[in-house]
Order: sequence, then structure tokens, then C-alpha cells
Amino acid sequence: MERYNIPHPEIYEIIVSEYPDNTAKQAGESISKDVKDLPSIPITFATGDTMIPVARAVTNFEVDFSKVQAFHLDEYWRYPPDGKYSFIKFLYQNFFIPLGIDQRNIHTLNGLAKDPQKEVDRYEKLVTKHKIGLVILGIGPGGHIGFNESGTPFDSRTHLAQLSSETITRDQILRGQDTPNQALTQGIRTILEADRIILIAYGEEKGRILKKALHGDITPECPASALRLVGNKVTVLVDEKAGNLVK
Ligand code: F6R
Repeated sequence: MERYNIPHPEIYEIIVSEYPDNTAKQAGESISKDVKDLPSIPITFATGDTMIPVARAVTNFEVDFSKVQAFHLDEYWRYPPDGKYSFIKFLYQNFFIPLGIDQRNIHTLNGLAKDPQKEVDRYEKLVTKHKIGLVILGIGPGGHIGFNESGTPFDSRTHLAQLSSETITRDQILRGQDTPNQALTQGIRTILEADRIILIAYGEEKGRILKKALHGDITPECPASALRLVGNKVTVLVDEKAGNLVK
């Protein structure tokens, strides 16, 4: 199957490839191109199952990432950086170390912060100062992006989020994680301010969530629908199973 585009009135491009690995390869190519064009680009990285093949693909492009300014999208709170399900641990293992990002250019949320308000304020200032060039997103329960759950206002900045019951079920019951019910996350406004956003999704379940985000109402009930407000800078990359539901 060749890749094809799904036209959408608000979104710059929605590209369908046959299998998750093809989608991930395309994401890898697109991310690498941004880094070639601007070696010191600030990038916000998501974690999760969606990102594992993306990380592999981007590493295979052998572009120099050493100067990239790397940002962390979200983190469980309170949760240690060396915990089994720590997002920062995931990012180091899958992206930062394999890509050779300079330690000095890695900016993380402290999942153990005693004062979460102080921590999110510090992080928001840092993100805003760097002006993010690219955000790499997955999509989760209820259309969440980062840990911006259903009902999160579109003008939210980095904040401490209460996870939705759907997300808690996915994490703690379906995935068997011993993770907290709260998390620190870049806000929806923080994400929308990036120069460019890539959202990646595979499979029917994600396709159903994405269908709501792309074709339903633009509403905080579905946080990913906010991407349509800045759709001219959004690229959605999906496999055929998700794409069939988004057409
Ligand atoms: C994680 C994050 C989340 C995930 C989403 C999908 O850093 O930002 O929004 O992208 O929960 O997770 P997976 O890819 O595990 O299905």
C-alpha cells in the first residue's frame, strides 16, 4: 500500500501508512528533517507504546541530535525518576541516550517535587523561554494529550493533573502499573504554542478516539480536538487501521 493523505478542513496533513512500523518510520523521517534544518531545535517528547517504534525509527536516520534541546511532556507525581514506569527513564532509554542528546540540553519535570505548583511554574517558564519547535504526541483515553485529561481547559499551562478514571484503569489495571493517580504535564496551551506538532496513532482503538478529536466538536471534553485550533501546524500520522476510522 502506498501512503495516502486524508483531506481535513483544519489539519495541515493526515497521512496514512499501512502498518505501525511504516507510520513510525515516517515520524522518524519528519523529526529528523526538523533536526537537520535546525540542529538546536527544542523538542518535546512523549512516552508510551506509540513512541517505541518511533524512537527506533528516528535513531536509524543517524542525524546528529546532540544539540537538540529536549523536553519532557509529562511525568507521574509523586514518582521517582528511576521507578519502573518513570517517563523520564523511558525517554533516556529510548530517545535521549540512543540519539546522543547532550545531558546539558535535557530539561525534565521532577516527579518527586515536594511543591508541585512551584515545579510546574518553573518548567512552564523554561518551556516558554526556549520556544518549542516540535512537539511529538500520542493520544490516549478520552482523547488526552500529555496528561491533559477530558475537561482540561484549552488555555491550561503546565500543571498537576488528576488522572481520569479511564486513564487510571488503562495504567493500573490493564497495564498493571503501580503508578500514582496524578501527574505533572505540559498544558494544552503550552503544547499549542509549539511551531509544529506531530501526533502519531496506530490501531482501531486509537482510530476511534482520533475520529472524535478530528471530526467531533472542538471541546475540552476531547483535549486532542484543541489541535484543530492550530491545525495548520499539525501533522497526524496513522496506520491503516486507525486511518480507516478517520476518513
Ligand atoms: C505520555 C503521553 C500520553 C500518551 C498516551 C498514549 O507521555 O503523553 O498522552 O501519548 O497516553 O499512550 P500509549 O502510546 O502508551 O498508548
